[in-house]
Amino acid sequence: MHPSIPAFAATDPDIYERFMGRWSARMADPFLSFAGVESGQRVLDVGCGTGTITLALAQRGCTAVGVDASEAYLAGARHRRSHPAITYEHGDAQSLALATASFDASVSLLAIDVIPEPEKAAAEMRRVTRPGGVVACGTSDFGGGNYSFLMLLDIGAVFDEGFRALREYLLPRRLVRPNGQAQLWRQTGFTDVVEVPIVVNFDYESFDDYWTSQATGPTRTAQRLQAMPVDRRDEIQQHVRLAYLYGAPDGSRSYAHIIRAVRGIVP
Ligand SMILES: C[S@@+](CC[C@H](N)C(=O)[O-])C[C@H]1O[C@@H](n2cnc3c(N)ncnc32)[C@H](O)[C@@H]1O
Repeated sequence: MHPSIPAFAATDPDIYERFMGRWSARMADPFLSFAGVESGQRVLDVGCGTGTITLALAQRGCTAVGVDASEAYLAGARHRRSHPAITYEHGDAQSLALATASFDASVSLLAIDVIPEPEKAAAEMRRVTRPGGVVACGTSDFGGGNYSFLMLLDIGAVFDEGFRALREYLLPRRLVRPNGQAQLWRQTGFTDVVEVPIVVNFDYESFDDYWTSQATGPTRTAQRLQAMPVDRRDEIQQHVRLAYLYGAPDGSRSYAHIIRAVRGIVP
C-alpha cells in the first residue's frame, strides 16, 4: 500500500453499523445462497466484523466461527449478534490459528479488499476447508457498482489531491473489478470457480443520513475528510449534497450496489 494511503480503520462497531453493517445484513442471504452453505455445516466467516454474515450462517442452521482482526468489531458482534451456534475469535486472516480441513465451508464478505495480503487469506481459507468444501468471497464492485461511494470520491477528487490519490489507489485494484476475485480463486487452486454480481439497495433516509454514514465511517475517504482543512471539507460536502439532491427535495434515496461474489471448491 502507498505510505500516504491510510488503512481501513475498524475501530467503532456502531459507526460500522451505520456505514455498512445495515447493508451487509441485506447481502447475507443472497451471498450465502450463492455460496451454497447448508444447515448442519461448520462454516468459517473470515473478516466477520460485527457479525452480520456469521449470524446469518447460524440462522441457517450452521455452526459458525467468525474471525476478525478488530477486537472492537468483535465486541460489537458479541454484543449485537451472539448466538449459541457462533464462536467469535480474534485472528489474522492471513495466518489463521485454525486446523487444516476443519471446516465444511469458508466465506468472507467485504473483507478481502482490506486485508493487506489477500493471496495469503485465500490460501488460508483453502487450507482450513475440507476437500470438496466450498470457499466463497464477495466484495464491492468499485468499477461502477458502488455509486453511493463514487459520488463522494469523484467530487472529492475535484477539490482535494488526497482524494485523487485515493481514487488512483482504490479503483484499479483487481479484486474490486469484475472477475478479479475469480482470477485469485483460480490462482489459489480452487476448482469450479464461478463469479456473479449480486445487487442490493443502499437506502438513505436523507442527505444527513448519507453524509454522516460516509464521512464518519471507517473508510480511507472518511479519514481523509476528517484530516483536511474544514473549508475544503465543507466545499466537498456542499457539492455532494447537490449531487444527492439533484434538484429534488431532501429525503430518501436508494442506490443500487453491486457485490461481486465468487465461489470455488477445494480440490
Ligand atoms: C468492511 S468489514 C466487513 C465485515 C463483515 N464481513 C460485513 O460484511 O459486514 C472488513 C473487516 O475485515 C477485517 N479485517 C481486515 N484485515 C483483516 C485481517 N488481516 N484478518 C482478519 N480480519 C481483517 C476488519 O477488521 C473488518 O472487520
